[in-house]
Amino acid sequence: MACYIGLMSGTSIDAVDGVVLEFTQAGGCTRAFASHPFDPALRAELEALQSPGPDELARAALAANRLADAYADVVADLLRRAGLNPADVAAVGAHGQTVRHRPDLGYTIQLLNAPRLAERCGIAVVADLRSADIAAGGQGAPLVPAFHAQVFGHASERRGIVNIGGIANLTVLPATVAAGAAPPAVLGYDTGPGNTLLDAWCRRHTGAAFDRDGDWARQGQTGAALLAAWLEDPYFSLPAPKSTGRDHFNLEWLQAALHRAAPPPRPQDVQATLLELTASTIAQACRQAAVQRVFICGGGAHNGRLMGRLRQLLAPILVESTAALGIDPLAVEACAFAWLAARRHARLPGNLPSVTGARGERILGVLAEPPPGAQ
Ligand SMILES: Nc1ncnc2c1ncn2[C@@H]1O[C@H](COP(=O)(O)OP(=O)(O)OP(=O)(O)O)[C@@H](O)[C@H]1O
Ligand SMILES: [Mg+2]
Repeated sequence: MACYIGLMSGTSIDAVDGVVLEFTQAGGCTRAFASHPFDPALRAELEALQSPGPDELARAALAANRLADAYADVVADLLRRAGLNPADVAAVGAHGQTVRHRPDLGYTIQLLNAPRLAERCGIAVVADLRSADIAAGGQGAPLVPAFHAQVFGHASERRGIVNIGGIANLTVLPATVAAGAAPPAVLGYDTGPGNTLLDAWCRRHTGAAFDRDGDWARQGQTGAALLAAWLEDPYFSLPAPKSTGRDHFNLEWLQAALHRAAPPPRPQDVQATLLELTASTIAQACRQAAVQRVFICGGGAHNGRLMGRLRQLLAPILVESTAALGIDPLAVEACAFAWLAARRHARLPGNLPSVTGARGERILGVLAEPPPGAQ
């Protein structure tokens, strides 16, 4: 038995999600899952650090310390839930918080003080999982398609796996993929906004962190002209591979077209139109990729309104959550980082050059060792 922990905090900056993944000869299974919402002050600082600001080096270092402490609390919770000791876990794969992502300039920054996390939890930590791919000329993203190929691939069905986090991304798994293989033809790219604009607009107008189940969007009417204006963004017609982030899709982006809308739509109409934007750009990407069946993961899988629209837009293609394949949609990303830690531990590559554009396969991640005697 080998256990690995995966920790993920994504672009929504909503929570730290963690899993314990146990690998046996028969495959892998999830032993425990935990999700700890961010402390509001840390969330606000991580949000502020997304853009250049005063004294950002020291502030980033302090935020990386606080993030390590938040991650350590999740590890302690996971160990308790799974009934494990630190010595039972081979390594923690920890994503950290992305504050800059500039593969074009050769760097990406995921804040996390990995040695502090290793010291606090007494387990080896694999962090900075994107830089080796960027050093090899890749985008450093997305990394999860390799894991999707491993666990969700099917011999006779061309599948689409859509993660609806802050940004939405599609993994295309060709039919010839046997589960367990890492085929060259897997594709993966960001389709555009997932929840980030829905969250930002909802937070501004209702104070709630997100629109639970899409209930507020349900009260509005989709604005065809506004949707068309947003869809004019060149990102949506760029060929894959492509990636994007909150630096592009944010409130300013949303408002540029909104200011031109006449008559001005009601806030709930804007929310309904944003939901349509997310659903229609995902559906269009799935159709272009000619997938036969779609599985959704990430927080968006819990938005009933969004799932309903995806089903309508993609019919007769079946749209389900990854729960149908045995993995809780909220746990998929964290599982991917546990899997990447296992790959690093075994000195096996973790990237798919067909997805990231890297020159070749690379062993991903920088290792922080625990104190002597801890493992
Ligand atoms: N019950 C729900 N109803 C509507 N939306 C939900 C619900 N639960 C979660 N969400 C949405 O999911 C988001 C969180 O998703 P998730 O944690 O997958 O994204 P993330 O942290 O941005 O991850 P990543 O960027 O790595 O994909 C929330 O911000 C919210 O918008
Ligand atoms: Mg999250």
